[in-house]
Amino acid sequence: MSTHHPDRRRLLLGGLSLPVLTACGGGGGSAAPSPAPAAPAPPPPLADVPALKTHFAAHFKFGMAADPSGYRNAIANPVILRHANSITAENCFKPASLGTSPGVYNWATADELVAFAAANGMVVRGHTLCWHSQTPDWFFTGTAAEVRAKLETYVRDVVTRFKGKVACWDVVNECTSDDASSAYRNSRWLQILGPAYIEHALRAARAADPDAKLFINDYGTEDPAKLARLMTIVTDVQARGAPLDGVGHQLHVNTASPTPANVDNALRSVANKGLVNHVTELDVSLYSDPGSCFAPSRTGCAADITGDPTLLAAALKAQALQYRALFNVFKQHASLQSVTTWGIADNSTWLSGFPIARGNRPLLFDTAGAPKPAARAITDDGYAP
Ligand code: XIL
Repeated sequence: MSTHHPDRRRLLLGGLSLPVLTACGGGGGSAAPSPAPAAPAPPPPLADVPALKTHFAAHFKFGMAADPSGYRNAIANPVILRHANSITAENCFKPASLGTSPGVYNWATADELVAFAAANGMVVRGHTLCWHSQTPDWFFTGTAAEVRAKLETYVRDVVTRFKGKVACWDVVNECTSDDASSAYRNSRWLQILGPAYIEHALRAARAADPDAKLFINDYGTEDPAKLARLMTIVTDVQARGAPLDGVGHQLHVNTASPTPANVDNALRSVANKGLVNHVTELDVSLYSDPGSCFAPSRTGCAADITGDPTLLAAALKAQALQYRALFNVFKQHASLQSVTTWGIADNSTWLSGFPIARGNRPLLFDTAGAPKPAARAITDDGYAP
């Protein structure tokens, strides 16, 4: 199936909307009475990019995140089928989706995703079992012993359900503090169970499926200070003898940050602990927002540029260069076994609502599913975005 309508590709070039041409060049009718000035040749369509799962096969699996509603539509479906050999559920594996009430589960959508993956040659990254967000309040009621039992039961039941079908789990998500006051995020898990909650979740997952690879997943590992806190946690987990196979680096980044050196440092630090690396939620926002934009007040966020063709074209170029720089680092790390973008194409991205409602275009494929300059930049070293 052809995924790349030529008119879509033309839209990529400079962000200009050009007239739709017929197969014969358009116009038709009788010859002009006098020679018209030569019309500029239409820009060549952007060549398709190789299937990313094949292109990067010697280095890592290539994954995309989506729920069934995200991959079933006509824009995203051909893109994920062509490019991905790994899939992460964007929401339907989270406790808020699966964990209706103690011992009661809502498997339908997750089962559908697992069947889709099996039918289409994709491994599944399970995301996520233990998190401070998108987790029902029922987990946190009762005594500490009861909360621990609910966590362990939930992890056991979910991992057992998908035993042999989910290759790896983000067992614990975002456990690292964003400030220097502590290594550990001050979540309800920490408040009720102390740092041992991570060990409890990991041990329950290993017991339920000894073959699944177990990860701690977090954002901001490209920030050396946050990375240091995460590594404190990793050291602690390993000292407890808890089963941990790898670290997931979300890599929700932007066109201006981070530097390749900081990403290289994060991957190296994890490998030095004897662990595997996954890049789990990669997207490159068009905006470089100040910290205040992520505070509850959401102040100082950059203004939407998606309606301005000149600014958008410049941002997409910067984005292509950032994607290329990141992938050049990724390819240097044998410990990096999987790279997943958080979404399939720009028609659907969580960044259109986070940190504020705003147009954003953070992925490798555009709103119509055609490859963007970034997709070309990571597959063709000679391409100048
Ligand atoms: C996001 C989803 O993309 C959204 O649809 C949902 O509303 C909120 O969660 N870090 C994570 C992901 O680990 O689970 C988050 O996914 C994005 C940030």
